[in-house]
Amino acid sequence: MRSTRRALAAVVGAAALLVASACGTGEDDDSTAAQVEVFTWWAEGGEKAGLDALVSRFTTACPGQQFSSGAVPGGAGVNAKQVLNARLQQNDPPDVFQVHAGAELLDHIDSGQIEDLTADFSTWGLTGTLPAGLIETITVNGKLWSVPVGVHRANVVWTNDQVLADSGILTAPKTLKEFIGNLGRLRRDGVESPLALGRDWTQLMLLESVLISDLGPKRFTGLFTGATKWEGEAVADAIDDYATVLGFSNADRDSLDWPQATRLLADGKAGYQMMGDWVGAELEAANFSGYDSFTFPGNGKAFQWLADSFALSSGAANPAGGRCWLQTVASPEGQQAFSVQKGSIPARTDAPTVGFSDYQLSAAADWKSGVAVPSCAHGSACSQPWQNAANAALGAFSTSEDKAALQSALAAAAKQFVRQG
Ligand code: GAL
Repeated sequence: MRSTRRALAAVVGAAALLVASACGTGEDDDSTAAQVEVFTWWAEGGEKAGLDALVSRFTTACPGQQFSSGAVPGGAGVNAKQVLNARLQQNDPPDVFQVHAGAELLDHIDSGQIEDLTADFSTWGLTGTLPAGLIETITVNGKLWSVPVGVHRANVVWTNDQVLADSGILTAPKTLKEFIGNLGRLRRDGVESPLALGRDWTQLMLLESVLISDLGPKRFTGLFTGATKWEGEAVADAIDDYATVLGFSNADRDSLDWPQATRLLADGKAGYQMMGDWVGAELEAANFSGYDSFTFPGNGKAFQWLADSFALSSGAANPAGGRCWLQTVASPEGQQAFSVQKGSIPARTDAPTVGFSDYQLSAAADWKSGVAVPSCAHGSACSQPWQNAANAALGAFSTSEDKAALQSALAAAAKQFVRQG
């Protein structure tokens, strides 16, 4: 293990540290191999299964290199990003690290923390095999900075079919109003928390979905480019709707990460969970099959996307090993193996779809035909400081329920962090 752990302690404390070092994936001891530290937040369940699939391909494709896990648990990377940023500032980088494609990369690029991978993209067969829109979002200053492995959809609602059937709910709601009606029906029937929800960033996801329904995909996207105002009636109305939906969620939401909210759903304590499509893999990993999913009511054909990607640190101790990891991640077989376990769809359009679930096949079709909208909670729309500010605003609202304060905090964050062009 490298000296890197010292920096972790300052940020997440000893408990998280223990988990992080215990969750190494595929770290068989081989004293002759060069270590490649791969930093992620995938430490358990479907997420770890996805990472393991990549590790197994890497081990075959990169002889002489040994995977070393730098996983720091915590959904959406809330803990991992803090640890990573502390390490990068102390010139103690992992070789490669997980990052969302899109605006989340901007600060790393500005600070010179990651390598330009433009030339590698063609060597690794990524030219012409990624959707044009995705290439556009990850191109900054005319260069490519991270290798996308899989695309997830954020705006999905997951169900416990038995809980819904017990209340006579047999079809997916088409509108937000209908959804709110179903939540009310569940509560009247004794389901105390009809909607399973977790901490701040999961609440931001819910707000984003409500905003897509109320503003439509174009005006929603404009919230992150400066084209749509956060001030004013349209967002205020959406915040009203958000508050109504939030009122049907579990009271302990602020202390739960997303897998614990998924557990509430699988245990029959909730009828719905609003969460990205990594939930399918988690439910499968937990052997729970009584679920279904639908696009958030009122979102129409909007496909709120995010892409998991990997970047090469500028100060990587083992850049050759890091590049071999990235090449594995870039390969069609690596992308397929990862997605089968992770519940995503490969970023490459030419990756095989063998082993995909019906859900994944339908997500792949929707990704092609739908209206792509980015996600702030998962970095395709917002830089890291913007995400942090939005998460803090949602976390505060969860206890204060002060709608005006939420709206003005979100408006202030947009003003401070929006980047034009
Ligand atoms: C997202 C990430 C997903 C999944 C999720 C929950 O940010 O892109 O792959 O891991 O967080 O942790």
